[in-house]
Amino acid sequence: MKLDIDVIRKHLATGEPKYEIRLFETVTSTNAALRELAKAGAREGTVVIADEQTAGHGRLGKPWFSPAGVNLYASVLFRPTIPPRDVASFSFLSSVALADAITAEGLEDCTIKWPNDVLVEGKKVAGTLVECATIDDRVDYVILGVGVNLNVTRQALRQALGASGSAASSLSEAAEREIDRNAFAASFLTFLAAWALTYEKQGPARVLDTWRDRDILTGRRVEVRGEGIPYTGRVLGVDSEGYLVMRDTLGTRRRVLTGEIRLAD
Ligand code: BTN
Repeated sequence: MKLDIDVIRKHLATGEPKYEIRLFETVTSTNAALRELAKAGAREGTVVIADEQTAGHGRLGKPWFSPAGVNLYASVLFRPTIPPRDVASFSFLSSVALADAITAEGLEDCTIKWPNDVLVEGKKVAGTLVECATIDDRVDYVILGVGVNLNVTRQALRQALGASGSAASSLSEAAEREIDRNAFAASFLTFLAAWALTYEKQGPARVLDTWRDRDILTGRRVEVRGEGIPYTGRVLGVDSEGYLVMRDTLGTRRRVLTGEIRLAD
């Protein structure tokens, strides 16, 4: 089914007037498009959704496979009153909202791999690219950009991603039915608004607790790459600022903010 702003709006929970949605056929990246709007003063709640991205990308500069007509690529603008050190925990809004929307589709086995990978039945179906800008020591804006594999097929993922495609899946593969992209977009945005309100009113604690309930890494042996020399260790959990806390093989406690985590057992 085609993406349609009016249909998305109809599906949004009543009393959710916060969002100003802009829909595009093709963009390079919804994050890049929203960044330009943010710099030009766009208000909190501005959302860019695209049917297709020609240069979609993920964490650590990796490309994000963004074919037309099947998935959700969306970026949401926030202007939260938080210090820059809270952006990591703020970004968890995205994966808890995605997990809620996925569970609402009837897919119960939905977990999160730090920081914001969302897995169904152990395979990655969604990720978040977080961008933020600061002015002096305060946050100007945060962009949460989500890519969700809704209806892309397993074969298309394998073809596009090669060997790593076997660690990815889509909601339609797991649910064995087509996922309505407009309804899913609205469901995600509705959960996201609710979690953002919780964060605003109560701080990060409840978001972090909910995130921890779905966390698959705590207790696991992992390899950390991308933060100096790669190392292995056991995951102790996630701290109040959203860092992954590890004990490496030499017994040293370490905090990870930007690394790539691979399961080592
Ligand atoms: C990751 O898992 O590494 C994050 C993937 C994030 C992809 C989304 S798709 C919409 C938005 N635009 C982008 O270029 N990236 C994010």
